[in-house]
Parts: sequence; structure tokens; C-alpha cells
Amino acid sequence: MSETDERTPFEWEARFREDDTPWERGDVHPAARMWLETGELKSGMSVIIPGCGRCPEVTALARAGLDVIAADLSETAIAWQQGQIAAEKLSAVTIQGDILKPGHGAWYPDQPVDRVYEQTFLCAIPPRLREAYEASLIKWLKPGGKLLALFMQKDERGGPPYGCSLEAMHELFPEERWIWPADDHFIAVPHPSLNGKPELAGALTRR
Ligand SMILES: C[S@@+](CC[C@H](N)C(=O)[O-])C[C@H]1O[C@@H](n2cnc3c(N)ncnc32)[C@H](O)[C@@H]1O
Repeated sequence: MSETDERTPFEWEARFREDDTPWERGDVHPAARMWLETGELKSGMSVIIPGCGRCPEVTALARAGLDVIAADLSETAIAWQQGQIAAEKLSAVTIQGDILKPGHGAWYPDQPVDRVYEQTFLCAIPPRLREAYEASLIKWLKPGGKLLALFMQKDERGGPPYGCSLEAMHELFPEERWIWPADDHFIAVPHPSLNGKPELAGALTRR
């Protein structure tokens, strides 16, 4: 099987209900911390976290003063995020549903945003949806806005995760629409599970 093959639909909701979520890091991603420190993510910015699951970056970014929109298919994951947001008396918008519905069903924010923080979402969706996701990202982001990408280097037979090799990513995010980091400079951050395979952290700017 290759990056383009796909198993039967993945039961995300069931995985959250059964607490079978090996992709979770359990802590804020080191790259998110780095982007907060360098100002790549900063107070006053708007950010979408697609496929947020139960990632702690939703509250971490809201706490840091960003306007967060967190979206996920899973009711359980969104209810968990809402609980975390309420417990800390933070404010963030949560969207529950399929944000990549093909055709006219795709979700868009009311206003384009400054950042998209992408953590194990692109590698989770079937590769046949990648082009629709890229088209959505262009609409979600303001010109000059950035996709803060964490390209997963683990490619599971039949997926997910579906590998995000830089070669495939260059095809998906072409230079006509995206400015790439100089010399393809990405920082490799090993995943604490997922066989320690790294995610490649880097910012792509929407033209
Ligand atoms: C591998 S998990 C990553 C979760 C989270 N970002 C993290 O790093 O812990 C992928 C997430 O994407 C969500 N998802 C998959 N397809 C989706 C879609 N079409 N629309 C919205 N969410 C989706 C799943 O429910 C799941 O929470």
C-alpha cells in the first residue's frame, strides 16, 4: 500500500470514547511552545486548530490570548475541549462536525484567520481529501497568513497516519500558492509514541 491507499473509514468518535488515542502527546507540542516563544503564535492572532481532538494546544493558545477556533468530527473530543475551556474560564470557539465535506458542504470561518495550527490532522485524513483540505486552507487563511505545519513522517500501512513526505507536501502546497521555509528548513520533533517517528515543524505562508 502507498500514501494513496486507504482502509475503511476510521472511527474517530469510537477511539475517543474508548480512550484509544495513541497519537496524543499528553502535553503541549514542543513546536507550539517554540512558536509561542518566537511570536509566530501571539496574543491577538486568530487561529484555527483543525481536527483538534483532545490536544492541549486549544487551551494553551487561548490562554496565550489568541482567538482560537477548534474543530473536530468527534462529539466526545469537542465536549472534552469545551470542559477544559470552561474549567479555565477561557474563551474559544468550538465546531463539531466534518470540516472537509466535499462540494458546498465544506466549513469556512466567518473571517479568514492569521494562523492554522496543524497537528496530526493532515496525516489523519484520507489522501483523497488532501486537495480539498489545501483548497480550504487557502480560504481559511488571510493572504500572508501561515499554516504552522507538523508533517508526520510515519506512514501506516493503509493509514492513518498517512505519511506526509516533503516531496508529497511540495506537490500539495505548490509554490504558486505557498511560500516555503528557506532551504526546506524544518525542525524534526520525534513523537513520544507512534514508534518515535518525527513530525517536521515549519511554517508555510499563504500567498
Ligand atoms: C490523529 S487525531 C489528532 C488529534 C489532535 N490534533 C492531536 O494531535 O491530539 C485526528 C483528528 O482529526 C479529526 N478528524 C478527522 N477527520 C475530520 C474531519 N473531516 N473533520 C473534522 N475533524 C476530523 C478526528 O476526529 C481526530 O480528532
